[in-house]
Amino acid sequence: MKTISVLFVCLGNICRSPTAEAVFRERLLRASLSARVSVDSAGTAAWHVGKPPDSRAVAAGARRGYDLSGLRARQVGREDFLRFDHVFAMDRDNLAHLRTLQPAQGGARLALLLDMLPQHEGKQVPDPYYGGDDGFEQVLDLMEHAADAWISRWQRELS
Ligand code: 4NP
Repeated sequence: MKTISVLFVCLGNICRSPTAEAVFRERLLRASLSARVSVDSAGTAAWHVGKPPDSRAVAAGARRGYDLSGLRARQVGREDFLRFDHVFAMDRDNLAHLRTLQPAQGGARLALLLDMLPQHEGKQVPDPYYGGDDGFEQVLDLMEHAADAWISRWQRELS
């Protein structure tokens, strides 16, 4: 049985990428694709390793039915390119950092998460860390949109 593994990467792994992980996990469950598509998240920086997601991300996610509470931050490594089929960066800084870790040949497909969404090509997921609560809502809106688009594509690929 073909399966797909996906890693979401931001800077700290406490705001954007754990939100992505929780939103995709929930929507994969609803699409009955949990056994076929696995998701994980990591950060390019090591500052928050071992910590739970930012309490604002946990609260914003919970209001929409996404559970981020059990997640713990980790740092992305070179080996992740061999373990995952897709590595999705939240912004261009993350993408540039990931390119320095990517093996010259083979390994995960690396892209900006929003790049395949019509009207969002090249767009980044804005970092909500230093802003207000609306930033976390905007991240959730973008993740729900991205999850629907990618899950439709995976449904076709896996059927
Ligand atoms: P994230 O947000 O990359 O979406 O997890 C950030 C988290 C922490 C910091 C910056 C962004 N920080 O500077 O500690």
